[in-house]
Amino acid sequence: MQTQKTNSRFSWIRLFVFKYSYYFCTNFSIESIMAKTALITGITGQDGSFLAEFLLEKGYDVHGIIRRSSSFNTGRIEHLYLDEWVRDMRNKRLLTLHYGDMTDSSSLVRIIQSVQPDEIYNLAAQSHVKVSFDCPEYTAEADAVGTLRLLEAVRILGLEKKCKIYQASTSELFGLVQEVPQKETTPFYPRSPYGVAKQYGFWIVKNYRESYGMFAVNGILFNHESERRGETFVTRKITLAAARIKQGYQDKLYLGNLNALRDWGYAKDYVECMWLILQQEKPEDFVIATGEYHTVRDFCTLAFKHLGIELRWEGEGVDEKGIDVATGKSLVEVDPRFFRPAEVEQLLGDPTKAKTLLGWNPRKTSFEDLVKIMVEHDMRFVKKLYLKAHIEE
Ligand code: NAP
Ligand code: GDD
Repeated sequence: MQTQKTNSRFSWIRLFVFKYSYYFCTNFSIESIMAKTALITGITGQDGSFLAEFLLEKGYDVHGIIRRSSSFNTGRIEHLYLDEWVRDMRNKRLLTLHYGDMTDSSSLVRIIQSVQPDEIYNLAAQSHVKVSFDCPEYTAEADAVGTLRLLEAVRILGLEKKCKIYQASTSELFGLVQEVPQKETTPFYPRSPYGVAKQYGFWIVKNYRESYGMFAVNGILFNHESERRGETFVTRKITLAAARIKQGYQDKLYLGNLNALRDWGYAKDYVECMWLILQQEKPEDFVIATGEYHTVRDFCTLAFKHLGIELRWEGEGVDEKGIDVATGKSLVEVDPRFFRPAEVEQLLGDPTKAKTLLGWNPRKTSFEDLVKIMVEHDMRFVKKLYLKAHIEE
């Protein structure tokens, strides 16, 4: 009698275990059980869009903050919620967008409270150096105080032990460089309202890490570009102009300081580092760079060369010109309107720490390949744009 009772109890337990393990296995994949939640500020920007793709592929539940705009500002991430591949991945929406703004604390608190993120990537910023001279106060609000608002939101909600924070710091902190190449220990000397605002962001992140034991870290990223780069940054301005000139839609390209030296990498490679920095045991700041630099003039020469146009540089200063060797036409000229009140003449990063501790390859995409990717993209982009315009006429 006793054995019978014990047997029937075991059967019930077995049935229970079977039923629930079946339910568990059919309703949740291992990744979805383990899935982390990430919140990206600045998801509509160049880096935000690549990072969202990267995290979705890793199985993250990705949330992004977008700001209200009178025209669509989601062009870079549209494919992530429209494309089949994302919906098919787990038959559910993996990307969720929330309206908010770095200048609005209440929106940040509300979003972080509802998302309960494991990781926050703070990429939102007024990121244009020249524009920061025209809008210094707004730049400080969004880039400096915005970072503080985000850290405070996490603290107010009591998430400082659950939530890791990545801050998009920048090589602009080195500005008037105090040593070459620049590494994690190089003293800062910012040269623009943008650089100064980002310096506040850097230190407040470090301060909250030291004061409250938060996992809050800075990625000091050197310039990184891509086919999704904003059209007023110099690399994209060049590749777009080269594509238009090649196809006969533009006569000339006007630039500012041709001698500026930058350490240019590929944005798609750099977002991996943002993630790696947050996966470390210890919260630490990292310089992310290629360790190689080129002038704006070099970038131009290579972009045009890729389209079969050889440039010869003549003259000096504001009179310098890039002449098409084949036709003798001047294709690139200097316009002082693009000079900055204070310039960062050179930036060259030392990625040794990232290579050693993160195991990251800083030269995954070479400078030549970066230029090629951008030029080839813009040739197709320009062709489509003008074709569409002709059809609509
Ligand atoms: P980006 O293309 O200019 O994107 C900036 C993002 O921030 C956009 O999504 C923008 O939204 C958003 N944003 C601007 N102001 C905001 C505000 N007040 N509230 C909420 N969102 C706001 O910049 P990126 O090249 O991807 O750079 C990402 C981050 O890395 C920035 O913080 C930048 O300063 C930093 N950084 C960039 C580089 C680089 O070479 N790319 C190097 C070092 C550091 P909209 O789309 O609505 O404008
Ligand atoms: N934008 C622009 N337009 N820059 C020009 C031009 C032009 O017509 N002509 C020359 N330049 C020079 C600038 O003076 C600067 O020295 C260099 O080209 C690069 O300019 P940008 O592409 O605008 O980038 P940035 O270096 O000022 O800032 C970018 O990189 C920083 C990291 O070092 C931005 O992405 C920042 O957000 C980022 O922090």
